[in-house]
Amino acid sequence: MNAEPHAAPSSDRTADLLARLRGDLRRARFTVAALEALWGADAAASLHRGQRVPARRVLDARRAEHGSSADLATLAELFVLGVPVPGDDAARALPALGIDGAVELGLVARDGTSVSAALDLRPYAFTDARGNGEWWILSDLGELAIGGALGEQHVLGVGGASMTLAGLMLPTPAGSVLDLGTGCGILAMHASRLADRVVATDISQRALALAGMNLGLNGIEGVELRLGSLYDPVAGERFDRIVSNPPFVITPRTAGVPEYDYRDGGLVGDALVESVVRAAGEHLEPDGVAQLLGNWEYLDGRDGLARAADWADGLDHWIVEREVQHVTEYAETWIRDGGTRPGTAAFDRLYSAWLDDFDARGVDRVGFGYVLLRRRADMADVATEPSTRAGLARVERLHGPLGDVGSGLGGHVSDCLAAHDGQMSRSDAELAATRLTVAGDVTEERHYWPGDEDPTAMLLRQGGGFGRTVALDTGLAALVGACDGELAVGAIVGALAQLLEVDEEALAAELLPAARALIDDGMLLLPSE
Ligand SMILES: C[S@@+](CC[C@H](N)C(=O)[O-])C[C@H]1O[C@@H](n2cnc3c(N)ncnc32)[C@H](O)[C@@H]1O
Repeated sequence: MNAEPHAAPSSDRTADLLARLRGDLRRARFTVAALEALWGADAAASLHRGQRVPARRVLDARRAEHGSSADLATLAELFVLGVPVPGDDAARALPALGIDGAVELGLVARDGTSVSAALDLRPYAFTDARGNGEWWILSDLGELAIGGALGEQHVLGVGGASMTLAGLMLPTPAGSVLDLGTGCGILAMHASRLADRVVATDISQRALALAGMNLGLNGIEGVELRLGSLYDPVAGERFDRIVSNPPFVITPRTAGVPEYDYRDGGLVGDALVESVVRAAGEHLEPDGVAQLLGNWEYLDGRDGLARAADWADGLDHWIVEREVQHVTEYAETWIRDGGTRPGTAAFDRLYSAWLDDFDARGVDRVGFGYVLLRRRADMADVATEPSTRAGLARVERLHGPLGDVGSGLGGHVSDCLAAHDGQMSRSDAELAATRLTVAGDVTEERHYWPGDEDPTAMLLRQGGGFGRTVALDTGLAALVGACDGELAVGAIVGALAQLLEVDEEALAAELLPAARALIDDGMLLLPSE
């Protein structure tokens, strides 16, 4: 049974207060660019590193100089830096909402003559397939503002993982999107720019309340919020897309170890990510795509990435491992993330609990990466028509830096999926008759021993996308070099066989699979249909 949808915002009164807040934020020009101009790029960079001292010094100096604070600076101090401000300044900066309205919204608390933030509120700027956009995002106060470890019900704002997944989302329009584990609602908000209908779920009532406020504050409609665990709130429903930044952090189930809603789904090891992946097919329309981030354990000598691929069995999948951490580094990262500082007894106790859990289950490393799943059109119980599309089973380790991806990898991922389908639908004879071109971001690099005429290494470099590097031999280098859209692949291979004095069939058997791989990578392009 479906959970009751929550209205967004939850009442006319809340909607009215959020509209007033929106007006005040607009009036004060509370934008990413204005904040950066206010405290400068260096202080902004410090804030990204979790340090607010440089930004505070700039604002303190301005207050000392002018005797009071400009509205933008007041809002920045209060909501971004988490510093109490004089009540008069707050009242001036929020003229339509007023302090009473802000208290009613749960945005601030009065403390004598000053006002302090009860929520974090900051602008968030982005670029996607529809252009540039900017929203204001409410979330729980971070470690800087509360000055200690986070509460277990903490609702996260927009973090690195949220932005990675927002950038990875396929940019093409979709009928319906499910955002599983929506938190402050950021991915559902992004999805609303592509989809007619978005359903956003979370196990946390508080997260849904904040997501509802963010939708209301930013005037976004068409997103339905539902309470419940994993796919329970969407039982029996299918979507064109699923997006999830699930609570994938592996946490020991030991008394006294905090269980943070925002990052930990309450299961043992990587079982939560496994559950999200395994059940995705049941909630995807034919050809529907799920995209999520996840962790996978290297457990009992088993390759973690291969385990993740097993979870996706039966679905088309493309899984990219972006990094692997030893369990010690993993534990340090996540204990610190919760706001517990190294060098404290609490940190050491948690560290031991993490290592005990990993030891007990035979885990020595943890992988992190991107998972893309696609439901084949002919999967049982959906359609009887056999699929005309060949499968996708791509599992790779790409631990290096990405290429220059601008607003994110989504466009590249979408192009690579289409290219894969395009090359797989062609027989070898059809591919040989195809005129390929080299993608505009691809360059060739040659390395020579000093004095040698022949290169010792030839590399194809991808400037965008995953920033891939592919080693070339003489035949493949010559094939890529000749792919100018004029000559078909077979004609190039024939000419090369003559030039290199090798058997044409044997050369084709070598080069056609290599060309297919370069098409999959987005380095060679099929002609547009
Ligand atoms: C890492 S946060 C992601 C938030 C947001 N989507 C983002 O990308 O910033 C994970 C979210 O999953 C929620 N969550 C935890 N356990 C869950 C479960 N069993 N089912 C659904 N959501 C869950 C948490 O409350 C949290 O909001």
